[in-house]
Amino acid sequence: MFYGAGTLILLLATSDAQSAAEDVALAGQNLMLAACDAGLGSCPIGLSRAYLNLPEVKAELGIPTGYAVFTPLIVGHPAQIPEPTSRKETQILFWR
Ligand SMILES: Cc1cc2nc3c(=O)[nH]c(=O)nc-3n(C[C@H](O)[C@H](O)[C@H](O)COP(=O)(O)O)c2cc1C
Repeated sequence: MFYGAGTLILLLATSDAQSAAEDVALAGQNLMLAACDAGLGSCPIGLSRAYLNLPEVKAELGIPTGYAVFTPLIVGHPAQIPEPTSRKETQILFWR
């Protein structure tokens, strides 16, 4: 699931924090941009979140009570730099 990456960074927030998901997403993107600037690759691994938030896994990782894993992020030396993928056309749903 983690593609053998050298580093796994878990971005945590207290479960009751206001705007936690948005705050963590913004921090994660800054981290990914900084990793890219340093010549490293990164990828959020959302599939691992449910597992990482299991009480026994949180305890093993030493995640403090009251905190939840919002964004697991792998960072490592990229095996290759893929070409950019295509983008869906922007949809503007409301304009005035
Ligand atoms: C919130 C989020 C969760 C993601 N979780 C995973 C994941 O669990 N496993 C994975 O291989 N890629 C994961 N990705 C990466 C995406 O599959 C995709 O590779 C990435 O968003 C780049 O897309 P692009 O190639 O269209 O630019 C995740 C991306 C985001 C934004």
